[in-house]
Amino acid sequence: MNKKKIAIIMGTRPEAIKMAPVVYALKQKSNYIDSIVIATAQHRQMLDQVLSLFKIVPDIDLDLMRPNQNLNDLTCRVLQLMHKTLTDVKPDMLMVQGDTTTVFAASVAAFYLKIPVAHVEAGLRSHELYNPFPEEANRRLTSVLTQIHLAPTPLAKEKLINEGTKEENIFVTGNTVVDAMSALLKAPFSFSESSIKNLPLNQYRVILVTSHRRESLGEDLKNTCLALKEIIKRFPDVMVVYPVHLNPNVRKTVMEILSDVERVALIEPVDYLCFLYLMQKAHIIVTDSGGVQEEAPTLKKPLLVLRKLTERPEAFNAGLSKIIGTSTNKIVAEISLLLTDEKAYQAMIGNNPFGDGKAAERIAELITRWVRNETPLLSSENEFKG
Ligand code: UD1
Ligand code: UDP
Repeated sequence: MNKKKIAIIMGTRPEAIKMAPVVYALKQKSNYIDSIVIATAQHRQMLDQVLSLFKIVPDIDLDLMRPNQNLNDLTCRVLQLMHKTLTDVKPDMLMVQGDTTTVFAASVAAFYLKIPVAHVEAGLRSHELYNPFPEEANRRLTSVLTQIHLAPTPLAKEKLINEGTKEENIFVTGNTVVDAMSALLKAPFSFSESSIKNLPLNQYRVILVTSHRRESLGEDLKNTCLALKEIIKRFPDVMVVYPVHLNPNVRKTVMEILSDVERVALIEPVDYLCFLYLMQKAHIIVTDSGGVQEEAPTLKKPLLVLRKLTERPEAFNAGLSKIIGTSTNKIVAEISLLLTDEKAYQAMIGNNPFGDGKAAERIAELITRWVRNETPLLSSENEFKG
């Protein structure tokens, strides 16, 4: 039988982390599938960190990141270069993951060329257009252009159905981030050879922080940094480790407020293996990241989310995270509670609701069935149940 060409797109760090297991799983189906990895490189250094860790060499690299890029220019570059690339490569299907501008614009490019789109991590919704910005809109727009919706959880499927998406096109796979983590956590980690080897992680209770979202830039991010400074003042046995995102608008605020504060380690973004190690060493994780919200429960770490709402409520619904917003007082109060109240701390530890480590396997099987014209693509008994 004729093989089908499946193009896998990745632009940013989280897309690469979450698509890496899919790339490997599709390689196992090479009797049916020729997979082609296309990096838009919306991120350069942070994408390369992931690609090199997972030993993925893109077949095509559009290298389109610009310093401090704006959303409209970025969207235009993705659209133009993806039009040319898809016209040259002629894939039978495009796979995208998540909610970035790469995902949205690549899906538009594929749609205009009548190439079907499969969307990994479909159906997450905050129901507020500007929060997260622009990701809520990116994700909804991508759903409109998608033929195969790969929902990570039953809740994500429900949200798609509520919007009128046909149920027969939605498949609950689990989140591929759990697969990526499980693969890396199996291998031993060499701390002494890592970029974080000089951090005194065993001497303090570690608060691991990441914050980079566009809607938090400016005042909200400033509030977060001031809260961390206050925590350091109040708790001498605590250190903050904060890998600072390369977005210059994030770095300016964070560096201004925290660069000279004792026991605050502002470090460059670390590779995923180091970040997993840092999460394991952390006492508490404080973040506005999407991916980190899905990872912290797997590592059984209490999670404080620096957002007003989340499109990933599964951890919150299970009591494993708190959505604490970005007021300085609230952040100080919630971190202090976890540092002083063992019962409150233990109450936030439980089982990960986001995946079971088999998402990529389900996706590869389902795409293979699509290639072979078999239905259903994934039977309901094989779906991830949450
Ligand atoms: C993007 C995604 C966001 C995702 C985040 C993951 C959009 C609109 N936003 O946000 O959903 O959570 O990636 O981290 O798609 N930069 C570098 N090197 C890098 C990466 C970024 O220098 O490797 C700098 C550049 O100056 C770049 C800027 O950061 O212009 C912003 O990058 P961009 O991809 O536009 O937005 P993010 O804030 O990273
Ligand atoms: N991450 C990483 N190194 C870091 C910080 C985060 O590898 O220094 C990983 C993290 O484990 C998660 C992903 O990057 O898997 C999240 O990326 P980010 O927060 O940039 O994007 P989001 O998930 O919010 O879209």
